[in-house]
Amino acid sequence: METRTALVTGAAQGLGQEFAVALAGRGYRVAGLDLVPQRETADRILDYVELVADVTDEAQIGGALERVLEQFGTLHVLVNNAGADPEADVEDITPEEWRRVMRVNLEAPFLMARAVLPYLKAAGRGRIVNIASAAVPTAPPTRVAYTASKAGLIGLTRALASALGPYDITVNAIAPGMVRTRTAERTGGAVGSGGGFEHVRAHQAVPGTQEPCDLVSTLLYVVDEGSGFLTGQTLDVAGGSACW
Ligand SMILES: NC(=O)c1ccc[n+]([C@@H]2O[C@H](COP(=O)([O-])OP(=O)(O)OC[C@H]3O[C@@H](n4cnc5c(N)ncnc54)[C@H](O)[C@@H]3O)[C@@H](O)[C@H]2O)c1
Repeated sequence: METRTALVTGAAQGLGQEFAVALAGRGYRVAGLDLVPQRETADRILDYVELVADVTDEAQIGGALERVLEQFGTLHVLVNNAGADPEADVEDITPEEWRRVMRVNLEAPFLMARAVLPYLKAAGRGRIVNIASAAVPTAPPTRVAYTASKAGLIGLTRALASALGPYDITVNAIAPGMVRTRTAERTGGAVGSGGGFEHVRAHQAVPGTQEPCDLVSTLLYVVDEGSGFLTGQTLDVAGGSACW
């Protein structure tokens, strides 16, 4: 069987690292792209292709993809995971910060999808997975820009699914709840700073705090060869979080 290949953005840490390791564990050849070097991820994956680039920069994306193609010759899966998650009261969000969040969380997944399209088409099929957020339905008050950007990402997911379906390319989103990553612990984990793990636990159906590994089975299901009729969907994996 042909070895399948995957590119994960934001792979240096957190969910991106978990996704990259999980895909490698399933036999994928994996490339990771991040603003920073990805030593921890590289240490966990044999023949990892480490790309240091900015997902908001078209030229850097192009250069990174050239390297992926040099190494793999083909590409089957893109996971748009890189994200920016600033916490701020509405009055404190500057237009610059708003635009930065939109660029990283919404424009970049579009740029990445557009850039990989020729390779997925050439492969004859493809899977694009966008990492959205349960912030869209729960709407935390201190994450206005973030929530708006992730809502846009869900819309982008549906539109791309319609546009790319004819090429046998599926596009889906996964919407995690509050997952224990270093960033979530720093920005949203502190009780009293607009939420916190305790608050989230009190509003979800299942007990416990969500860990990166709790998203893995959903990712593997979405990218599976057998999931060709699953497209345009957002899978909430948030323990049944119902309200903020
Ligand atoms: N952790 C959570 O609670 C949670 C919940 C819902 C959704 N998400 C989403 O899941 C994704 C990963 O979350 P995480 O907590 O692992 O985040 P994280 O901050 O730990 O990791 C994000 C990675 O993206 C990289 N990145 C940021 N901007 C980039 C850019 N312009 N170009 C390239 N790389 C860039 C960072 O360097 C970092 O390594 C994000 O999209 C986030 O919005 C996270």
